[in-house]
Amino acid sequence: MLEVSGLNQFYGESHILRDVEFRIADASCTCLMGRNGVGKTTLLKSIMGLLRTRSGQIRFASRELRGEPVRLRARSGIGYVPQGRDIFPQMTVEENLRLGLPVRGDGLREIPELVLTLFPVLATMLRRRGGDLSGGQQQQLAIGRALVIQPRMLILDEPTEGLQPNVVSEIGDVLVRLNREEQMTILVVEQKLRFARRVADEYCIMEKGAIVASGAMSSLDDEQVKQYLTV
Ligand SMILES: Nc1ncnc2c1ncn2[C@@H]1O[C@H](COP(=O)(O)OP(=O)(O)OP(=O)(O)O)[C@@H](O)[C@H]1O
Ligand SMILES: [Mg+2]
Repeated sequence: MLEVSGLNQFYGESHILRDVEFRIADASCTCLMGRNGVGKTTLLKSIMGLLRTRSGQIRFASRELRGEPVRLRARSGIGYVPQGRDIFPQMTVEENLRLGLPVRGDGLREIPELVLTLFPVLATMLRRRGGDLSGGQQQQLAIGRALVIQPRMLILDEPTEGLQPNVVSEIGDVLVRLNREEQMTILVVEQKLRFARRVADEYCIMEKGAIVASGAMSSLDDEQVKQYLTV
């Protein structure tokens, strides 16, 4: 479904992504892991077109995305939930959700049923301002907004950061449901190992801007965790 190869990216003179290479199978759930500052967010933004890359390929559903604007990448079927949520605090929940609709190519002007089914709490808060929601509700809103385009693939950057354990577990339920029931392909950056093991069936580990290990989640061993993940 997604195939990244030879991807290089720089901030000024600093070489941040180094020949990044990985692939994600259709309907799988992959967790991208790695310590702080290794380049996880930079990689996701490069896939979405929010950052310019110097070289490489980003193929999604057999189509080359590199060089295409963000809007077209989203329209090709990728939903993106940025780190830190980035919802619009002054706009209502409904307005935040509707933001994704014009990206759709099919002219649908209604919020898809699935979004409000997955997050019933949002359905009761459509007129509230985004900024008045709790952290967990804002995260649900950010995920809901990405789902409005009914993407084939959902990319999430640390969706559980700073949230209470019960909310973390609810977000886990949503990802599992999207992946197993809706067959949505998922790429999620996550530092919590327990969460990662629960939702993902594949893992990729980054270090210093490169993918240094990957495989089935069930094969991720303590040695790798110690070497690449624990602080
Ligand atoms: N706008 C920027 N300009 C210059 N350097 C940046 C910028 N954004 C990030 N960096 C640097 O690029 C490197 C990778 O950052 P990135 O945010 O991709 O890491 P990350 O793996 O997502 O970290 P975290 O786990 O803390 O979210 C870091 O060294 C960071 O300091
Ligand atoms: Mg990050």
